[in-house]
Amino acid sequence: MRQAHEWEARYQEGNTGWDRGDASPALAAWLASGALAPGRTLVPGCGRGHEVIALARHGFAVTALDFAPSAVAHVQESLAREGLNADVLQADVLQWQPDAPFDAPFDAIYEQTCLCALPDDVWPDYAERLHGWLRPDGRLYALFMQTGQPGGPPRHCDLLHMHRIFDEERWQWPESEPLFVPHRNGRFELGYILTRK
Ligand SMILES: C[S@@+](CC[C@H](N)C(=O)[O-])C[C@H]1O[C@@H](n2cnc3c(N)ncnc32)[C@H](O)[C@@H]1O
Repeated sequence: MRQAHEWEARYQEGNTGWDRGDASPALAAWLASGALAPGRTLVPGCGRGHEVIALARHGFAVTALDFAPSAVAHVQESLAREGLNADVLQADVLQWQPDAPFDAPFDAIYEQTCLCALPDDVWPDYAERLHGWLRPDGRLYALFMQTGQPGGPPRHCDLLHMHRIFDEERWQWPESEPLFVPHRNGRFELGYILTRK
């Protein structure tokens, strides 16, 4: 597993090809359609937090996690510059537990390519955590990375594999087509809104 210090090194070296420099068009689309409405929202693996800023601007109560200190500091500085509020915590998503009942359960989780940054042997554990952090009928806004290649990170989030991890007993998958979310690095993500059962 890539450790916190390795991600930190990438931030310090500016080796951050995943970073769009702005919020993802997926977030804009879900906000514009009303599919994502203000509430308690968790952003795991937030990176430089462009989506955290956008959500805070729209009045969401955001908790954001990342274990790279530079990423966390960047988000906190951006929030302060704009006079916005969010809880941005330096934490490992595979260890963190919210201070219930103050933080959790969440109404929504915005999962933008944290899953694909994790080794696939911990995906079931991570999915279990996502389920536990959401209230019943809460929603997971998932951007599943598509690389079409083995290895990573980023790891390819094969949809059959995703259906196994986010199984129908505990998650309701939408009937609509996913959002196609291209990236200037040539990769793309598929955006799905899953409802926690
Ligand atoms: C591919 S980047 C995505 C960042 C951001 N969501 C974006 O789309 O720009 C993955 C992020 O997850 C963080 N990360 C990876 N494993 C983590 C873990 N176990 N706990 C917390 N953060 C983690 C990394 O530090 C990095 O910022």
